Amino acid sequence: MNNFEFNNPVKLIFGKGQIAKIAQEIPADANIMITYGGGSIKSNGIYDQVIAALANHKYIEFGGIEPNPKYETLMKAVEIAKQGGVNYLLAVGGGSIIDGTKFIALSMGYKGDSAWELMLNPELMETMNPIALAAILTLPATASEMNCGGVISRIETQEKFAFSHPGAYPQFSVLDPTACFSLPKKQVVNGLIDTFVHIMEQYITYPCNSSIQDRFSEGVLLTIVEAAPALYKDHSNYDTVANYMLAATMGLNGFSAMGVPQDWATHMIGHELTALHGLDHGLTLALVEPALLEVMRAEKGDKLVQYGARVWGITTGSKEEKVDAAIKKTAEFFESLGIVSSLKHYGVTEESIDRICKRFEERGSKLGENGTITHVEVRKILEKAY
Ligand code: NZQ
Ligand code: ZN
Repeated sequence: MNNFEFNNPVKLIFGKGQIAKIAQEIPADANIMITYGGGSIKSNGIYDQVIAALANHKYIEFGGIEPNPKYETLMKAVEIAKQGGVNYLLAVGGGSIIDGTKFIALSMGYKGDSAWELMLNPELMETMNPIALAAILTLPATASEMNCGGVISRIETQEKFAFSHPGAYPQFSVLDPTACFSLPKKQVVNGLIDTFVHIMEQYITYPCNSSIQDRFSEGVLLTIVEAAPALYKDHSNYDTVANYMLAATMGLNGFSAMGVPQDWATHMIGHELTALHGLDHGLTLALVEPALLEVMRAEKGDKLVQYGARVWGITTGSKEEKVDAAIKKTAEFFESLGIVSSLKHYGVTEESIDRICKRFEERGSKLGENGTITHVEVRKILEKAY
């Protein structure tokens, strides 16, 4: 096990009716900006609950943050927040809203010409001192509600990059499973896949004496695999949604990551597919992951065998047969959620594969737990997934 430090300050407030508690959590004299997306919170009653809870607080609102939040939109929010003297942000929505709100919190103190610089220069990002933020989650997927990262897209350049900052953890996050009942089925599928792949990125690497982290990761994977068929049919059962919601938060809150090598190449490649084709984040992961496991099977073989045995019950055959079976089970799991395993099917072109590989080449990217996934492997992965 590698050395590590762990500190996750997010207070989770979980369960039915818990949104009312935000009034106690946010300082009485806070100058709040509520941030949200395209309006789902208005049609499902979450907005009304938030407004009722904040009856004695001072707040303004900023709606219209898109899925895969756009830098251009977030800069408008920063301007309004600065004008309004905002010192507390309350994100109400899915990962895009929480990520976007983290970026607003960080950009408030930026003095230069273009806050996009922060996305390109992690050292500059480190110097930022974000204002306080909190979240009310409506879509279990990203775990942004319990981590300090975010992913922002820029329309002008068709780029999508990730950031992290130790000051960008929400102070608290409310997770009310009933908020998820109104989700479109497609978003439930995205969330199940995102959670599954977050764990794969932290778990399917190489063995490093990480017994407790592995068991934790396998626990999240099994929870998702077991809940998925019921959720795919119907996501209005409180208990089933509650387990899914907590599993998604646990998928990327630092627990699985303690002292282990991590991959993240599936995400990096997926972000390019979203940037160029607008594909949903979860969908990109389902398209890339099985191909990546196949291309990188020599490096990941030992963990794939362990995963196959503990998550899918694959215990017979040679090592190569077990690896084959584990990858096949992964692809079948995504297909059971309605995913068609072909980039072409979703409109990705051979030209965009070339463009993505060129981007990784120009950046000199060396992805994966061993730094061995260069633009050459990315091409193999995308061609296999095509
Ligand atoms: O905008 P509204 O109207 O709210 O609708 C949203 C949006 O259209 C809708 N939705 C959310 N909750 C709903 C609902 N509709 C009905 N009922 C509800 N309860 O769902 C749509 C998608 O929302 P979005 O927030 O974009 O989805 P998700 O949570 O999957 O977030 C995706 C973004 O998170 C980033 C992704 O790259 C992507 O940009 N990620 C963030 C991570 C992090 N911070 O750690 C890690 C992830 O790997 C991921 O990269
Ligand atoms: Zn993800």
